Amino acid sequence: MIILGIETSCDETAVSVCMDGKILSNIVGSQLIHSNFGGVVPEVASREHERLLNYLTVKAIDSAKISINAIDGIAVTNGPGLAGALLTGVSFAKGLAIGLGIEIVSINHLEAHIIANLLERDDINYPFLCLLVSGGHTQLWLIKKMNDYTLLGETRDDAAGEAFDKGARILGLGYPGGPEIEKCAQFGDSNLVKFPRAFINSRTIEFSFSGLKTSLLYYMDSFQETNECTLNDVAASYQSAIIDCLVAKMKLATKLTSVNTISIAGGVAKNKFLRQSIDKNLSDKNIIFPDLKYCTDNAAMISYLGEKKFQMGKKTNLDFSINPNFKNNLD
Ligand code: KG4
Ligand code: ZN
Repeated sequence: MIILGIETSCDETAVSVCMDGKILSNIVGSQLIHSNFGGVVPEVASREHERLLNYLTVKAIDSAKISINAIDGIAVTNGPGLAGALLTGVSFAKGLAIGLGIEIVSINHLEAHIIANLLERDDINYPFLCLLVSGGHTQLWLIKKMNDYTLLGETRDDAAGEAFDKGARILGLGYPGGPEIEKCAQFGDSNLVKFPRAFINSRTIEFSFSGLKTSLLYYMDSFQETNECTLNDVAASYQSAIIDCLVAKMKLATKLTSVNTISIAGGVAKNKFLRQSIDKNLSDKNIIFPDLKYCTDNAAMISYLGEKKFQMGKKTNLDFSINPNFKNNLD
């Protein structure tokens, strides 16, 4: 089966071809234009998707070395995400499906991030836990099997990626903030500044990062760089506060569920300090890390999950709509 996947939920325009579980092409057009504004501008994102979609689709089909008529079905993200951005991808996908006379299946972006853990590997056993950490979401999921997911807990306010992005802005670094803070943190001492770690000792699986962001804002009000405390030290300390909270709740989730296979997903899952901390603190668990290219937004995870859905007999009627808000499940 050959499936074309389309992803436009935020600021990545991505198209991929998957055939029998193998990714034949994975094209991601990152909209660098948003770095001029220090964050994603929704209207700009929609216009960029509109500009790039046709070109990147042709590129994905060409680099997969298939003919457009060989495509059996289309998988497209319909939420959660930015409404205008989702609409561009969904409308494009519907048009293409009608033009080619093939079926379409709508995909939940968060489910696709989780299932990205299965890409290019067959050694993952159910059940497993997944810490989903992206720009818009921070959630801990229990994956019993495909299509059977339980949300164990999530953030009360900002997502971890958002905490990185907003923190980077406060520190005067670029966008997206995660990689920028990670770069500075390599040269800093993460123990130098004591930032708050909300819920770290609670017996509940929940996160909160808005207080951390405020405390960075206050700290920077009177901050003067010295040899004793550099911006790199502040970045490292801030990053470490985020990571400590994430890892503590992964640990708690393994205890509460007795599930010993753990994975991560979403853009923040790229962070090497997070990976090192998981390796160190959960060394007795079976740890799965997705390939770096499948952590941030991509369409490989969409085409792959789309193929699985088609194989399970799922398809979506053409009158489906976008679903910008997360509604407590992954359908
Ligand atoms: O999954 P993603 O590409 O898009 C959403 O679905 O939101 O995640 C984007 C987020 C951004 O907040 C970005 O700062 C963060 O992932 N991110 C990172 C790193 N790379 C991307 N955060 C920490 N460390 C990184 N290396
Ligand atoms: Zn995402």
